[in-house]
Amino acid sequence: MRRYDKDSAKLLLDIMANRRDVRGDSFIEGSIGDDELDMILQAGLYAPSVGYSQPWKFIIIEDEATKSFVYHNFKKSFKKSKKRFKHRKEYAKLKLEALQEAPLHIAVFYHNSGGDILGQTSQDDVGRYSIATAIENMWLMARALNIGLGWVSILESKKIRKRLNLGSAYELVGYLCLGRVDKFLDKPQLQINGWEYQKSRQESIIYDSKNRGSSRDISTIIGDKSYLDDFIDKEADFMLLMSYAKSSKIKGISQAGIKNKMYLTPTLDAEFIKTGKLKSLKKLPKTSKGVPTPATITRAIEVLSPFKDMKFVSLGLPKNPQIGSKSLRYYDIPATKRLDKGADFDALGIFNLGVSYAKEFKVKGEYLIISESIPSGTTSALASALALGYDADGLFSSSFSKNPNKIKEKIIKKALKMASCYDDLFDKLSVVSDNMLLFCAGFVLEVNSKYPIVLAGGTQMASVLLIINSISRYMGVDFDSSKLSLWTTKWIVKDKNSDIKALLQMVDFPINAFYSDFDFSYSNYPSLKKYDKGEAKEGVGAGGALIYGYLNGLHKREITKQIEGFIK
Ligand SMILES: Cc1cc2nc3c(=O)[nH]c(=O)nc-3n(C[C@H](O)[C@H](O)[C@H](O)COP(=O)(O)O)c2cc1C
Repeated sequence: MRRYDKDSAKLLLDIMANRRDVRGDSFIEGSIGDDELDMILQAGLYAPSVGYSQPWKFIIIEDEATKSFVYHNFKKSFKKSKKRFKHRKEYAKLKLEALQEAPLHIAVFYHNSGGDILGQTSQDDVGRYSIATAIENMWLMARALNIGLGWVSILESKKIRKRLNLGSAYELVGYLCLGRVDKFLDKPQLQINGWEYQKSRQESIIYDSKNRGSSRDISTIIGDKSYLDDFIDKEADFMLLMSYAKSSKIKGISQAGIKNKMYLTPTLDAEFIKTGKLKSLKKLPKTSKGVPTPATITRAIEVLSPFKDMKFVSLGLPKNPQIGSKSLRYYDIPATKRLDKGADFDALGIFNLGVSYAKEFKVKGEYLIISESIPSGTTSALASALALGYDADGLFSSSFSKNPNKIKEKIIKKALKMASCYDDLFDKLSVVSDNMLLFCAGFVLEVNSKYPIVLAGGTQMASVLLIINSISRYMGVDFDSSKLSLWTTKWIVKDKNSDIKALLQMVDFPINAFYSDFDFSYSNYPSLKKYDKGEAKEGVGAGGALIYGYLNGLHKREITKQIEGFIK
């Protein structure tokens, strides 16, 4: 058996570290010698292959007419590909091939024999992966010979195959350009020009799949951060409480969704989170300033680190989401009315619906994250807090960067006047509150810390806590908050027009509340950047989902990329 010493291993690592994809702007005059080509091909032939199938075919191309054909095919494909990129101008400037400059091309094909191959019985693509291992071997050998090699994949593979007189049993995997260079870049070109960044080892490597999360990027609003220790690397159920309040029709009060179709926002949010698709309307809800719904954030987390289970509760929605009946719980109740005319709903009845749902609900994961989607919900949340006697003026946020206080004040004033006629707490809430707040309060009070619950949201969820506080006082029940916490976004906590901490300090029971450090500092998408300027801020459980993601080992960059993928 041949043994290598550490220096040989270090040399191999060094060649790997200094291997570069070489594009045409780096090539100099000079051809590749036959002995060099032979070593590069031999390296390819030494590659591992599934079932030792060696499904490769290397086509050496020196003919100028064929090279020119491939170049023109690249030009056409590149032109077409430009449309796909948000940053089209930057993309157009990239040099992504060396087809004209390279004296030698090698097209590497996969031969799909159609027969059964050992090892290729479960994953069909492993034959193609065998070609990629051969190409990497060739790439490393070329580098060891100080020869430049670039991989070009912006090509119509069928057209290239036909031009090379190969039948449909062959599939192009890699088209390589080889030539002389006088220097290799220290770092990947796409890193140097800022197109991509180098991932940290932490981002790419997981040493133990059961032990990867941390609370490092999470901060405390109120309470004790060590509370989060029990949630690290644990799976949670996600519940979305969806409701509609006719107040959202009042001009300027909310911007949570598509103009004139605000009532569809919770429906579309639910469809997107659950399926990644929009069924009831092919439009992602956006604010009037073009900021995509926070459902994109929650969906990103579901795609990267799935929740154990998802439940969607429909509380007075004009249209139920199309997500399959298993995950939907539908209550045939009306939407709450415009607040300035009195919300006019059965607050006690809805509270009791929350209580009974909690009685039958079985949590599948280790804890439950409850979120909400209700356009204009911050108005009823504020009105509820005020009606219950909390000094909450100016402490509630909105989906706007500047809270539309004047409009809200006018409406709430009217609602509070109507509510003041009643002594009973639930009668008061029937005038000023909404279905989500009461249902959520009932649910949480009934669970009473039998298992951990996270209220995922901003000041609306703080309002739920205030309602729970008042109801438990009013009914004289002992509420156990030891397993209850609130998780939200940084945008809520940093909001100058509201104060979630002050709201949380008003409850009599101890409460832990946290926010994730997530923002869009890694994104160049203007519509996402607006989150960092205070637009949208929170909703559909975005803050809770982000903390869940962090606790399960996700990184800001990968979350950002996933969200960008939804809105490109
Ligand atoms: C499967 C595959 C396809 C690639 N296709 C292209 C391509 O079409 N054009 C290009 O310029 N580079 C292409 N590359 C090269 C990568 O952009 C390059 O490997 C990456 O940016 C890292 O840089 P480095 O190889 O110089 O370290 C490809 C690489 C791989 C592995």
